Amino acid sequence: MQKERICSATDIPDNGMKTYEIKGVKVLVANAGECFYAYQGLCPHQDVCLDEGYFDGSVLTCHQHLWQWDIRTGEAMGLAEAPLEKYEVEVSDGELFVVQSSALKAVEMLKDVSAATLSRLEQLAKREEYDEGAVVYEVNDPTDDLYVLESGRVEFTIGREDRTRLAGFMLRKGEVFGWAALLEQSPRRIAKAICHEKSVLLRIDGGAMLEVLEADPASGLVVMRRLSELIARHMSGPQNG
Ligand code: FES
Repeated sequence: MQKERICSATDIPDNGMKTYEIKGVKVLVANAGECFYAYQGLCPHQDVCLDEGYFDGSVLTCHQHLWQWDIRTGEAMGLAEAPLEKYEVEVSDGELFVVQSSALKAVEMLKDVSAATLSRLEQLAKREEYDEGAVVYEVNDPTDDLYVLESGRVEFTIGREDRTRLAGFMLRKGEVFGWAALLEQSPRRIAKAICHEKSVLLRIDGGAMLEVLEADPASGLVVMRRLSELIARHMSGPQNG
């Protein structure tokens, strides 16, 4: 778990909000009257700074297309089609800190995996920082590793050379990509993954992960079920494997 100082509590007025850059990631901090909340700094719709929007102490509104969120939870309201990524905030001696837990705990595919297996997977995960525009993998690269997005944003293009196009979606914290590393029949990437902003990824060797799962068949079954659901979803939509 990582803890980073943001600012003093008095830096943000009641019903006010400010954006800070924490290790290259924009974080919006809102003061809802004695309670502080921290969220992704950019609107999940388009790259608009949320601190240019409106905040009435309970609802945050992006000024661009009026998507709204409940400030206590980050859940979408009204027109909004996606929730906000939330960060835990700690207040200590009048100072605000953002606390980032392991992204693996937020991975849907790993929910219900035993604590021991999750711990082994955390040991396998290599934390890597990527600059904006950095390419994580290209079409036709080997599918050795899978990735979990810890912070930042990753987008995908499909196609080759001058005939590429955006896959049309971006990932959020805790989402897995490059999951072809868990499939024996998919040795090559079919999409290109690019960091849309400075991002932190957990990289996990696919073969080593399979060995951990084989040692805990109950957890392995859960992961494989979730993986098959993920594949089914992507076969009828964008691909990021
Ligand atoms: S950019 Fe924020 S709602 Fe469209």
